[in-house]
Amino acid sequence: MSAQMPGVQLARTVTSAAALGFVPVAIKFGLFDLLVEIEKPAHRKEVLMAYEKSVGSDRKSMPCLQLIDDALYAMAGLGFVDMTVDCVYSANDITRHLVHTPSAQHGALHFTTEALLAGAFLMRRLESGGYRYPFEELHTPLQFAYHEMGNDELAQQHTYDIMAAEGRIDSFNRFMVGKFMKTATAPERLARFEYHLDPVLQDAKSRRVIAMVDIGGGRGEMMLEFKQAFPDLSDKDLVVQEFNHEIREIPGLTLSTWNYKENDSEQPIQGAGVYHLAHILHNLPDLDAARLLQKLSQAMHPQSRLLIHEFTKNANNAKMHASMIALFGGRERSASEWRQLAALAGLRVTFEAYPEGGEGLVEMRKL
Ligand SMILES: C[S@@+](CC[C@H](N)C(=O)[O-])C[C@H]1O[C@@H](n2cnc3c(N)ncnc32)[C@H](O)[C@@H]1O
Repeated sequence: MSAQMPGVQLARTVTSAAALGFVPVAIKFGLFDLLVEIEKPAHRKEVLMAYEKSVGSDRKSMPCLQLIDDALYAMAGLGFVDMTVDCVYSANDITRHLVHTPSAQHGALHFTTEALLAGAFLMRRLESGGYRYPFEELHTPLQFAYHEMGNDELAQQHTYDIMAAEGRIDSFNRFMVGKFMKTATAPERLARFEYHLDPVLQDAKSRRVIAMVDIGGGRGEMMLEFKQAFPDLSDKDLVVQEFNHEIREIPGLTLSTWNYKENDSEQPIQGAGVYHLAHILHNLPDLDAARLLQKLSQAMHPQSRLLIHEFTKNANNAKMHASMIALFGGRERSASEWRQLAALAGLRVTFEAYPEGGEGLVEMRKL
């Protein structure tokens, strides 16, 4: 490595911050889609002409040439498009991935909208509170950003409610279905970890209880994957619990409402075979995570399993960890942290898998 390289790398990383602010611009004007459609290196004018053609007579918010060029240049800096010679751009593998995986574009939007805003206010939030840490979920850098922007109403709300008020929930839900990429379905992942689900499902059947409940299960992607992998499971066996008003029905599954945050709101489904929490606990501070686990523990039968699907707390997921802190006061957790949380809820860890990449699996059962 040359003597300059660490400095080059450092500059490359920290100058990403403002460039990331152009991602919503690139998405708004469909620049990734346009470059893929054009199929050859294109000058900024060609991209603007292709955009004008795509919107036809609807010219309400037409970007100027400079904005198109600067957004494309910023995307080239991030590696999301290629820049061949001065101001000539073309699609690369990341551009094509963004276009062919719509959930990934919604994910890019989420992290460059809410998370970027929260990250920008993290230090000022710490200063304002005399470095009191960790953040509580209604006092994260995101609420502080709204406070500083003079929006006292949103400054009091949870990040999910802020997203709803800002019209961002539908996009967030779309991100959750498919996320940045799909490497394996949930049943495939469990099989890869050599986790045996069949006996648990058989037991639920013999006890005549609901087979699986997915708490905060979004649009039901994971339950639908289990339905496909285990054709014996019917709509009634698979329940998605949500509080998200944009999700009104999920064909092929049972949708029910449970707001796990409400005080005195018991888990309404008792003794189910499996309770799933996928990417729920990393949205929660420790105390709130412990409260949710306690509610589930109270509903669980000795044979019930709680399956937690979260990222491994390793260097690959450090940026996700930072994002969860800034947005929710949440965090990724290590094996010892899972044990501590389990113990607080009268549970014990009975299976765990922490892969380098992708989601891991932690099983808990009643003590
Ligand atoms: C990060 S998403 C995960 C979605 C899904 N489990 C997945 O992995 O694709 C978090 C989900 O939790 C839901 N959620 C957030 N707060 C909730 C609450 N208090 N009660 C029920 N669901 C909640 C959101 O609506 C959202 O769908």
